[in-house]
Amino acid sequence: MKFPIIAYGDPVLRRKATAIEPDEYPHIKELVENMFETMYGAHGVGLAAPQVGLSMRLFVIDASTFGDDDPSLKDFKKAFINANILDETGDEWAFNEGCLSIPEIREDVYRKPVVTLSYYDEDWKHHEETFKGMAARVIQHEYDHIEGKLFTDKLSPLRKRMIEKKLNDISKGIVDVDYKMKFPAAKKGR
Ligand code: NI
Repeated sequence: MKFPIIAYGDPVLRRKATAIEPDEYPHIKELVENMFETMYGAHGVGLAAPQVGLSMRLFVIDASTFGDDDPSLKDFKKAFINANILDETGDEWAFNEGCLSIPEIREDVYRKPVVTLSYYDEDWKHHEETFKGMAARVIQHEYDHIEGKLFTDKLSPLRKRMIEKKLNDISKGIVDVDYKMKFPAAKKGR
C-alpha cells in the first residue's frame, strides 16, 4: 500500500518523532514494506515516517542506485528504527540533495562524511554501525526528518530567501509531481 507523501509546510515534518516500543507496534514489518513501496513509487532513495504523517522514529533507505559508484551500496536496503546518531566525523562535503516532501528543489548541502549510529532493524535486532560517503549522506538526511529538520534549514540565508516562494507554492500544491502528495495549504479541490 502506498501512502501519500506529506509536503513541505505540514507541522508533522517539524515534530521531533517519538521512539517506537515493540509491543506498541506489532505490525512494523508491514509498515516498513509500505514505506518502501511509497518510496519506490516516488523514485526516492530514502523515506522517513513523518513524511507519511507518522511521527515515529523510523526511516527506510535503498541506496542500491549508487552501487555503480560505490560497490558497497549495491545491496544497501535497510530500515532504521529508533536510530540515534552517536558520532559524526570528518570534513564536511557538499552534495546536491533533494527530498520527496520538497519536490523540484535541489540544493547543495554540507554534511560530515562519517556517521556512527545505533538503531534497530525491522526484526528488532540492535545494530551499532559506522557508515561513510553516500550511505552516511542519505542516513543523515533521513535522520534529520525524525528530528523535525529539513535540508532547506541548512542553506545560507540568501539561498533560503531565493527558494522561499517555491516552498510556499509547494505547501499549497502548486508543483508538478508524479506521485501522490498531501499539501498542508492546498485549496479545496486541488
Ligand atoms: Ni527528505
